Amino acid sequence: MNIIGLSGNVKRPSRTASLVEAIVTAVGSRFAVEGQTIELVDAAPILFKALRSDQLDAEGRAIIDAVEAADILVVGSPVYRASYTGALKHLFDLVDYRALTGKRVILAATGGTPLHGLMPEHQLRPLFGFFNALSMPTAIYATEVDFTEYGITNLAVHERIERAVSELAQALPVSDQTAAARAHGNRPALVAASA
Ligand SMILES: Cc1cc2nc3c(=O)[nH]c(=O)nc-3n(C[C@H](O)[C@H](O)[C@H](O)COP(=O)(O)O)c2cc1C
Repeated sequence: MNIIGLSGNVKRPSRTASLVEAIVTAVGSRFAVEGQTIELVDAAPILFKALRSDQLDAEGRAIIDAVEAADILVVGSPVYRASYTGALKHLFDLVDYRALTGKRVILAATGGTPLHGLMPEHQLRPLFGFFNALSMPTAIYATEVDFTEYGITNLAVHERIERAVSELAQALPVSDQTAAARAHGNRPALVAASA
C-alpha cells in the first residue's frame, strides 16, 4: 500500500513534520507500506506557482499525483490563526475533488496552546468530509510541551498515535489488510480478531 504523509509546516525544523513522520512510522510498523512525507516548506514554493491545477508544472504535478495515488494519507498541520496553514489548503485546492474518495486518512496537528486542540475536528475533518475520504476517529494533537528538540517525548501522544493506527487497521478493506500484513509478516488485525 502507498502512504503519503503531508505536513503543513512552512518552516524547518518542524514539530508537525516530526509528528506526521512518527505516525507514518507507526503505520509502517504494522503494515507493509511504501511512501514518503511531503512537507509544505518544500512543496509550497512549487505549488504556489500554479493557482489552478491546469497551471501545474511537472514538479507540481508529481506532488499532486502522489497525493491522489495514495491509499493512506497522514495529514498534519501546525495551527496557524486557529486553522491549518494556507499552504496546506492550497495543495488540497489542486487535488481533484474525486481523487480521495474512500481513502483512509489520519489527522494530526500541533499548536502553541491546548485551547486550539479541536482544530483537526473543526477544520481538517470537514475538508476530508468534502473529499468523501474516511478520516479515522482519533485525531492527534500535540503542543510544544509534548516535544523535546522536535522529538515527541509525551507518552500520551504516542498512545493516541497507536489508537489511530489501530483504527486504521480496522478501517482497511480485509483484502488490503491481508496483503499488507502478509507482506509484513504479521496477521492482519481483523482476520486475527475473527479467527
Ligand atoms: C503565524 C503563526 C500563527 C500561529 N497561530 C496559532 C494559533 O492560532 N493557535 C495555536 O495554538 N498556535 C498557533 N501558532 C503556534 C504554532 O501552531 C506552533 O508553534 C506549532 O507547533 C508550530 O509547528 P511547526 O514546528 O511544525 O512549525 C502559530 C504560529 C505561527 C508562526
